[in-house]
Amino acid sequence: MRDSRARDITYLRLSVTDLCSLRCRYCMPAEGVPKRDHRDICSVEELVEITRAAVDCGVRKVRLTGGEPLVRRGILDICRGVSAIPGVEELCLTTNGVALPQLAGPLREAGVDRLNVSLDTLRPDRFAYMTRGGRLEDVLRGLEAGAAAGFTGTKLNVVLMKGFNDGEIPAFADLARRYPIEVRFIELMPIGEGKNAEFLSAEAVLAACPGLRPAEGSGVARRYRFPGGRGAVGLIEPMSHRFCGDCDRIRVTADGKLKPCLHSDQELPLRGLRGEALRRAIREGIAAKPEGHRMDQTGRSEAGRNMHQIGG
Ligand code: GTP
Ligand code: 5AD
Ligand code: SF4
Repeated sequence: MRDSRARDITYLRLSVTDLCSLRCRYCMPAEGVPKRDHRDICSVEELVEITRAAVDCGVRKVRLTGGEPLVRRGILDICRGVSAIPGVEELCLTTNGVALPQLAGPLREAGVDRLNVSLDTLRPDRFAYMTRGGRLEDVLRGLEAGAAAGFTGTKLNVVLMKGFNDGEIPAFADLARRYPIEVRFIELMPIGEGKNAEFLSAEAVLAACPGLRPAEGSGVARRYRFPGGRGAVGLIEPMSHRFCGDCDRIRVTADGKLKPCLHSDQELPLRGLRGEALRRAIREGIAAKPEGHRMDQTGRSEAGRNMHQIGG
């Protein structure tokens, strides 16, 4: 369905947990997050029912997010349930990759079509620092496991941070030359712990890689290619090139709140609703979707939650 600004809402980002196996400095507080009572989190059945209602309201693409979706108990049941809904044309998942060596094959069998993997550095020491203890090797093995399980169209998400990974831009971009993947550089957003790292404009990517040539766009990313390269480079620039005018998405948090916009504190509780009441609440949320964020002017997000509680 269309919102009040004629944007066609076809994409649901469904967070299945706010927990994670890593604790990235720009996303999670140092002390981690308290594990919530499982009753505070939507059950597998509730998540599937919410998705079915969203599909009735026009959603055709679903992305499972977290926290880290692969630490959620029942993740394969969620994937099977969502992928079986008639009208779900694409089921995607955004992951830190750590659990892919065990789960890539089962996820594929459970109906997941495509993966996005988050990775901000190719240096083991920096990875351990940024994730507060993670092992780069796990993610690299995860990427291999994804390819071995038959996933194609995988995207790598790299959050740009000045003084942290700016020197690695050419190395990341080179992956898009050598492999058939899309490497996407994301501008850091001032949401929650985002203040723990320093912003770098995505223009830095173009400056560091003069060989890149503009390519056809896709979703929220401006895209580029190296002539003869196998993959693509994407720039996601919520700060310097706001893409709210083309926004096609809504979000649902693991505790069952509909968030029409990532950067607004507006939330509609969906738990306990079924059938027509659930569809009505989703339609209301879409109708009330804000025009966009104002982070470029205010310097902060009004999301009211940390990134691991929304899923990006
Ligand atoms: P594709 O289906 O592959 O296009 O994935 P995607 O870009 O929709 O999803 P992904 O989870 O890989 O998100 C990439 C980055 O874009 C993350 O940093 C998100 O936080 C950011 N992002 C996604 N949606 C929005 C949005 O609506 N607004 C803003 N400002 N940032 C977003
Ligand atoms: N700004 C931009 N991207 C972020 N992510 C998490 N926190 C932020 C932030 N403050 C990214 C993750 C992941 C995606 C879902 O969101 O790295 O790739
Ligand atoms: Fe976990 Fe992703 Fe947040 Fe890092 S960015 S703490 S991997 S949810």
